[in-house]
Amino acid sequence: MKTLLTESELQTGVSQMAAAITASSTGRQLTIIGVLTGSVVLLADLIRQIDQPMRVGVIQASSYRGATTERGELVINSALMIDISGRDVLLVDDIFDTGHTLAKVVAKLQDLGPASIRSAVLLRKTGRQEVDYQPDFTAFSIPDEFVVGYGLDYEDMYRNLPYLAALEPADLAKHASQAGAF
Ligand code: IMP
Ligand code: MG
Repeated sequence: MKTLLTESELQTGVSQMAAAITASSTGRQLTIIGVLTGSVVLLADLIRQIDQPMRVGVIQASSYRGATTERGELVINSALMIDISGRDVLLVDDIFDTGHTLAKVVAKLQDLGPASIRSAVLLRKTGRQEVDYQPDFTAFSIPDEFVVGYGLDYEDMYRNLPYLAALEPADLAKHASQAGAF
C-alpha cells in the first residue's frame, strides 16, 4: 500500500473544512447527516471541530459490489435517520467519485422537506464526476486511485487505518488470499 495522505495531513484538511463550515454558518442550528459507513471516522472528527449548535444523525447508502471495485446498485436506507423537515442539513460523506451516490442521497433527502441541504466530503477524485451536483465542501482532491483508510474500505476492511492509502494490484491479490483469515 502506498500512503497518499498521512494522519497529520488528514487532520489539517479536516480542520480547514470544519473552519470553512463554521465560517459559512447562518447562526441557525445545523443537522449533520453522515452517510454510513464510510463517513464514520470523518464524522467523528468533523463534528467536534464545528463550533455551532447541531443535531447529528446517519443515513445508510450501500452499493453492492462483486469481487471487483466496480460500483453496484445503490440502496439508500433512511429508517434510522433523524427528522430533517424544515432543517438546515449538512450531508457528510467519505468520497465523491462519480458523484452518483451523493447526488442520489441528496435527492432522497430533498423529498423529506429540509430548509436547505449542503454537503461536505473528505475526498474528491479528479476527472471522475458524472453528475451535475457538486459537494459544497471538499477537504482534498486526489488522483483516480482506489483508496482505503480513515473510514474508506475495500470489502469493509481497512476503515480503521489512521492514514489514507492507495490499494495496489498486489494488495488486492493479497486481500483475496487472506479473506476471512484475520
Ligand atoms: P460515487 O457514487 O461514484 O461517487 O462513489 C461514491 C462511493 O463509492 C463512496 O461513498 C464510497 O463508498 C465508494 N468509493 C468510491 N471510490 C472509492 C475508493 O477509492 N475507495 C473506497 N471507496 C470508494
Ligand atoms: Mg461510502
